[in-house]
This record gives sequence, structure tokens and C-alpha cells, in this order.
Amino acid sequence: MKILTLHGPNLNLLGTREPEIYGSLTLADINTKLGELAAEYHAELVCKQSNHEGDLVDALHDARLWADGVVFNPGAYTHTSIALRDAISAIGIPVVEVHLSNVYAREEFRHVSMLSAVCAGKVVGFGWRSYTLALRALGEMLSDKV
Ligand code: DQA
Repeated sequence: MKILTLHGPNLNLLGTREPEIYGSLTLADINTKLGELAAEYHAELVCKQSNHEGDLVDALHDARLWADGVVFNPGAYTHTSIALRDAISAIGIPVVEVHLSNVYAREEFRHVSMLSAVCAGKVVGFGWRSYTLALRALGEMLSDKV
């Protein structure tokens, strides 16, 4: 099983970025936790981050050539990007949308996701655990466990 974890804009600043909202773990810490969990599933995990919408589109396109699924925190592009929505629709592998914060308890513009309708599922509000929960869900879905 091969999984891409994709992190969108500003997530490279995790650890120092509004820790009261996003927690104190860095992106490297989260990727380490995901790597440990992936090993439990005997899954191969690749982690990428970009602040650029087009790079995220490219990473999704590339994933269709090698990955079985994607765990994706699209950051603020969640609320704006039809290009990312179309990329998710185009690649034909399951994408799980992830948010550290509970976007529904925040500003109204964060309540809207351009992407949720074309994602396999979504995990929000559990801090870094949103990622591990999403990876577990994807891993179980891909290995067809009940
Ligand atoms: C976020 C929520 C988004 O609204 C915000 O723009 C982010 C992070 C989250 O993980 O909670 O950058 O995706």
C-alpha cells in the first residue's frame, strides 16, 4: 500500500503558527507520527508540503501514477480551489480531507469546502490526530477491513 500525505499552504509553519489553534507539533513531528503508523499497515508513506496551488495539483496528478490514496490537508485552498477539486476528481484514487482545527467552530468562510464532495471522507478538529485518524481510515478502507 502506498500513501501520499500532502500538506498545503502555511502548514510548514506548524509548531509556531497559532499554536492555540493548530497545536505545538511541527510538520516534521506529524510526518514522523504518520510514518510510524504507516509502518503498522506495512504501507509506504511519502509526505510533501507546498505553499503553491499548482504544485499541489501536480502532486495529486503524480500520485495517480504510484499511490493508492492520499491524506490531504489543503489549508486555505480548501475554501477556494476549484483547481484542486478538479484534480481530486481526475485522479481516481481516494483522497481524505484533513483539518487540524474544527473549521466549523471558526469563521464562516472556513465552513465551506470546495473539496469535500469529491473526497472519500474528511476528518476535522482533532489536532495532529486528524492526520493519524485519516491515515487509519484510508489504510483500513484500502485493505478492505470492516
Ligand atoms: C486548516 C484549516 C484552514 O481553514 C486553514 O486555512 C489552514 C489550516 C486546518 O488544518 O485546520 O491553513 O486546514
